[in-house]
Amino acid sequence: MSRIVVTGRVPEPAVESLRAAHDVDGHESTEPISRDALLRKVSGADALVSLLTERIDAELLDAAGSQLQVVANVAVGYDNIDVPACAERGVMVTNTPGVLIEATADIAFGLILMITRRLGEGERVIRSRTSWSWGMFYLLGSGLQGKTLGVVGLGGIGAATARRARAFGMRIAYASPTECDPKLARELQATRMDTDELLATADVVSLHCPYSNVTHHLIGAEQLALMRHTAYLINTARGPIVDEAALVEALRTGQIAGAGLDVFEHEPLVHEGLLELDNVALVPHLGSATIETRTAMAQLAADNVLAVLAGEEPLTEVRS
Ligand code: GLV
Repeated sequence: MSRIVVTGRVPEPAVESLRAAHDVDGHESTEPISRDALLRKVSGADALVSLLTERIDAELLDAAGSQLQVVANVAVGYDNIDVPACAERGVMVTNTPGVLIEATADIAFGLILMITRRLGEGERVIRSRTSWSWGMFYLLGSGLQGKTLGVVGLGGIGAATARRARAFGMRIAYASPTECDPKLARELQATRMDTDELLATADVVSLHCPYSNVTHHLIGAEQLALMRHTAYLINTARGPIVDEAALVEALRTGQIAGAGLDVFEHEPLVHEGLLELDNVALVPHLGSATIETRTAMAQLAADNVLAVLAGEEPLTEVRS
């Protein structure tokens, strides 16, 4: 029987499947565990099931001990994990690709509708009990039909967001280090552009690339300056891909028309400047937040742990 530490609360079926064969040290509270408590808790673990709110670095790996075999992140993004530090210690890392594609694309498209049709502003009018009446020119937004969605990173979530955009009559452009599968390009009628050209062309730019040193502040003042004054920026990937201070400035000055954000540079903190602006839709990292998706993510992480502890290949290993 191996010792498995689950660093945050996850849906019960996943924990039960681990408990059937192993000793599981779970976390009951929905609040994140403190760093000190986590460093104590991981001691002697053979496997960790981690959440994206936990930093899995050399200190934590050493606190766990040399018997640790696998860190199974319950997220597709794994920028919270020091993958090279895991590799140095022979610890496998897994993530949860695939299972959260549709849920996250729904939130990306939800943010597109929310900001282009000014739904947040409208709701704030009603909730603040401000008087209003139907008006020919009242809270006019921008339509999507015939406009161009620029997808930065045409992986699973980017492609699923593009499919939704096609259904709304949009054209698709994408920027990606490699050409996408010709079948997908045909299905989406997608045109590949370099990032600068995409920024200058798209009516809505949606970010779907992973966060790394390479994509840190991929969108800063210089890139925002390339965008059209009528364009919108959507981020459901990771906050630090965007220079938040530069974005505030671009939204304030009208350099771009608006933004929709599910992720933030210093999460869970949100830049004060964003809170003061009406032309930005803000939601608290809800990309994968459906019962079905979170259940599937936790189960995939559990299945990865069970495979590694049984001496088998994990289902979705992150390669360093
Ligand atoms: C959520 O942000 C994830 O990476 O799964």
